This record gives sequence, C-alpha cells and structure tokens, in this order.
Amino acid sequence: MTPTSAATASDPTSTAAPIVLAGATGALGLLIAHALRQRGATVRALVRPLATTGAEAASLRLQGAEIVAVEYDDAAALIRACEGAACVVSALSGLREVIVEAQSRLLDAAVAAGVPRFIPSDYSADFTRLPEGSNRNFDLRREFARRLDKAPIQATSVLNGMFTDLLKGQAPVILTGPRRVVYWGSPDQPLDFTTMVNTAEYTAAAALDPTTPRYLRVAGEVASIRGLQAAARAATGQEFKLLRAGSLGVLAGLIKVTKTVAPARHEVFPPWQGMQYLHNMLSGQAKLAEPLDNDRYPGIRWTQVREVLAGRD
Ligand SMILES: NC(=O)c1ccc[n+]([C@@H]2O[C@H](COP(=O)([O-])OP(=O)(O)OC[C@H]3O[C@@H](n4cnc5c(N)ncnc54)[C@H](OP(=O)(O)O)[C@@H]3O)[C@@H](O)[C@H]2O)c1
Repeated sequence: MTPTSAATASDPTSTAAPIVLAGATGALGLLIAHALRQRGATVRALVRPLATTGAEAASLRLQGAEIVAVEYDDAAALIRACEGAACVVSALSGLREVIVEAQSRLLDAAVAAGVPRFIPSDYSADFTRLPEGSNRNFDLRREFARRLDKAPIQATSVLNGMFTDLLKGQAPVILTGPRRVVYWGSPDQPLDFTTMVNTAEYTAAAALDPTTPRYLRVAGEVASIRGLQAAARAATGQEFKLLRAGSLGVLAGLIKVTKTVAPARHEVFPPWQGMQYLHNMLSGQAKLAEPLDNDRYPGIRWTQVREVLAGRD
C-alpha cells in the first residue's frame, strides 16, 4: 500500500506539523533527521542540555532542525516540546533508564500534548515472539511496548533486523583476515539485514505517514550464512570458507560463560548481548515475518550486503 498522504522525496511539501525527534544527536538519530529534512519535514530535535553545544547539534542546526534542550525528567518541558507535533520519533539508546523510563516519560508527554503518533526506538530484529531472558535489550523493548500498547496514541515500530553496517566490524561473523564466515546452527537460516541509512530513510517516511500499522518490517537484504559467504566473495573477489563453531546449544553455553566472565552490565551492547542477538537471528526466532513492507514507500534504494562489505554503502 502506498499512502497518498505521506510525503515523498519528490514532494517535499509535507505536513507543516513538526516531527519531534528524540535521540537526534545519536548515530541513527542524525540519519533520521537528515532523511526527514530531505522529505521536507519540519524537525524538532530534543537534545539534552549538555549535548546542545556539540558537533551533532551543530549539524542538526545546519540541516534546518530546531533544537530544543530538554531533560527527560522535566515533564512540563517535555510536554511543551511535543506540542503541535504530528509524530514523536524516538532514536534513544540505552538500558532500562532510557528504553523504559525516559521513553515512558516521552510517551506520557506525547499523549499529554495530544500528539497522534509515536515511533519507539526499536529498529531491530523481531523481538515480539522471543522468550523472556533470551536477549536483555529485547526484554526492555517488549516491556516498553506493553506500556505503549496501553497508551491512547497510534504506535508504529520499525523492525529492520541487524544493521548491515555491523558486518564490517562489530558483528564478528565475516572474518576478512582468515577469510571465514563463522556461524552456529544452520548455514541456511534466512537472516535480515538493513543499513542504518535505509532504516533512517524508511523511518522518516513512516513518521510522515499517518496510516502506518503497529509494526513495519523491512530488510535491505535477507541472506543466509551461505548468502553472506557469497556476498563476501562478490565484495572482495576472494573465497571465504564457512566455519561452523557448533550448534545453537553451544552458542547458548558460550553466552552464559561470557556473561559470567565479562558481565559489563552497564554497557548497552556488551559482547554477550551481541551473541544473544546472533542466537535470536540464527535460531530463526527473531526472523521478520514475510511479506516485508519494503515497498510501502517508493524511492528507497535498498543497499545490499555485498555493497556494504565492498565499502560502497
Ligand atoms: N538493529 C541493529 O543492529 C542496531 C544496532 C545498533 C543500534 N540499534 C538501535 O538504534 C537505536 C539508536 O541507536 P544509536 O546507535 O543511534 O544510539 P547512539 O548513537 O548511542 O545515540 C543515542 C541517543 O540517545 C540519547 N541518550 C543516551 N542516553 C540517554 C539518556 N539517559 N537520556 C536521554 N537520552 C539519552 C543520546 O543523547 P545525547 O546526545 O544527549 O547523549 C543520543 O542522542 C537504538 O534503539 C539502538 O538499540 C540497532
């Protein structure tokens, strides 16, 4: 479905009501702000006072976003910041105090200000069907989702799988040195990947579309481990071998050990949480249900894994 009321890149005359963007100084937030401005949206960026003088805030101002300094424990200021908005988009990142607590205060403010729509900071694999405890960060998202679903506001989550960008570093799956693709379980399990830029472009389009459903599921590419192997070969011109490190049970054991020896509980993405993410994907439990919603907004060119690996993203 292509909603007629959504703004597009060729029609920058979007709604005059601003889109409120929380977490606008973050990596994804900056990209969402850019994509919103490209679509002609008015962007009101909520930034904590300390960050208003940083380079990211300067970049937001240059792009034409309005910067509003807010503390997330100042309910009155949050309500004022949300007034008149068409949608509140969250790109906050953190643990309970951010994903559940700060986002809940933002949600309360959006409702109090009469904002019709809210997009939470989900941007992930499909956490909706995962068992409690299988991924600490996803437990927090489901907890916030339960609050969001009770609130008198239209909610839409963008689910995009893993950021493809992570395959170039943070996610140790494609090892360019020894030319191996490491995995647990089956090499044929389909996995969802979307670049940060594509996720931001899609989120901006969704923010400007008053007809979105509760969940939008997108993937720039659905690739199995064998697909990643082919992408690595296409990107580098070199052969990559598969390296099966064990069953999913072995990975689960490894997660327990890593969590014990390197708990790093205050880090948002400690190594064991990345491993939980991999387990969720490789088990198929966090696979995005198809058909995907990629075609909802025309004009988004979905970047492929091989392009990211080749540095052409
Ligand atoms: N699917 C994936 O593979 C994947 C990978 C990475 C991230 N993500 C998700 O993408 C979203 C954005 O992540 P990101 O990497 O762009 O995050 P980021 O760069 O770390 O940015 C985080 C933003 O949250 C704000 N923030 C942090 N702590 C806060 C607090 N206590 N109170 C209020 N604001 C706070 C920061 O504001 P200040 O500037 O004021 O500090 C910043 O704007 C998150 O939902 C994250 O989990 C998904």
